[in-house]
Amino acid sequence: MSKNDRIKTSSGFYVSQEAPIHSDNPVPTPSAPAPDILRCAYMELVVADLQRSRAFYVDVLGLTVTAEDEEAIYLRSIEEFIHHNLVLRKGPVAAVAAFSYRVRSPEELDKAVAFYEELGCDVRRNPDGFVQGIGDSVRVVDPLGFPYEFFYDVEHVERLAWRYDLYTPGALVRLDHFNQVTPDVPRAVKHYQDLGFRVTEDIQDDAGTVYAAWMRRKPTVHDTAATGGDGPRMHHVAFSTHEKHNILAICDKLGALRMSDHIERGPGRHGVSNAFYLYITDPDGHRVEIYTQDYYTGDPDNPVITWDVHDNQRRDWWGNPVVPSWYTDASLVLDLDGNPQPVVARTDDSEMAVTIGADGFSYTREGDEDGSYRGEAAKGFKLGNQL
Ligand SMILES: [Fe+2]
Repeated sequence: MSKNDRIKTSSGFYVSQEAPIHSDNPVPTPSAPAPDILRCAYMELVVADLQRSRAFYVDVLGLTVTAEDEEAIYLRSIEEFIHHNLVLRKGPVAAVAAFSYRVRSPEELDKAVAFYEELGCDVRRNPDGFVQGIGDSVRVVDPLGFPYEFFYDVEHVERLAWRYDLYTPGALVRLDHFNQVTPDVPRAVKHYQDLGFRVTEDIQDDAGTVYAAWMRRKPTVHDTAATGGDGPRMHHVAFSTHEKHNILAICDKLGALRMSDHIERGPGRHGVSNAFYLYITDPDGHRVEIYTQDYYTGDPDNPVITWDVHDNQRRDWWGNPVVPSWYTDASLVLDLDGNPQPVVARTDDSEMAVTIGADGFSYTREGDEDGSYRGEAAKGFKLGNQL
């Protein structure tokens, strides 16, 4: 779909009714129906030092410990009623062992097995679950190289939402989404659409290169996103707070603890998703986003938003530049035997390369060349002119 087939909104981005993304190298669509996914449910992270990670996720971020032993810690957000949203497992290589989704019923696991076996993937089912608290589960290495898990059976725990005595100023209330780095975004989008995901937003250029796409099952902007880059790697896992001030409280706490070097990017307001955000890195370099206040997307005709890659407000609505590490750094992902998946280089244009002007900061949008800041007749990126 060309840009002319989309409607430009008064906010400066484009809307259409179908994701205007086409893959020239698609993963085949299985004849077996996809499992009915409810939502992203938890991530299993391998960490080098369990107690160091516990200090970060429990003492600093305030996640609730559901269970722990010598090998793993099971953590949940304050509104969660399933056993956990995050598993920290001690291991030799800091990486992601599973992106785990909850499905609608136990029968959906049979569908998951058939769906991925038809694609020739490594598929393993464990009636007792792969981790504590979770029952019958299916784990696969998906066609894009990511370790995906599906489960329905799970131990219920107390939803602590009413326990205001337990809240901290920066309380994390829900798991919101995953973000995956993958070389070929259209291929990823097509495959995840086959798995039942719907695109809510994307970033493209005039030539049709797709730099990123956001996809949802639950009625928010996303359960996962595909970010163009060398992959498969994990870009971040995101937890929600109730309000913006909770995110500012996390920044204040990190400052007070002299941990400001864990703040990578933000706080800020996203263009994509309209959410307020902060990116931090854990002791192993795994990136965590704190996120709040995106919008409802559950109608079947929810408009798909397309951002121009050269719109400097797409990733930060206030126009603050994205730090290079945010584009380049990501976590390895593991196969089902615990070995790191090989990383394949992106061959399409990189978002970082096409959006940084000659001075390192400029707007690169066509027609913005004469933009000025405080009267300076230079390319108009505000930080570039502060030097
Ligand atoms: Fe995110």
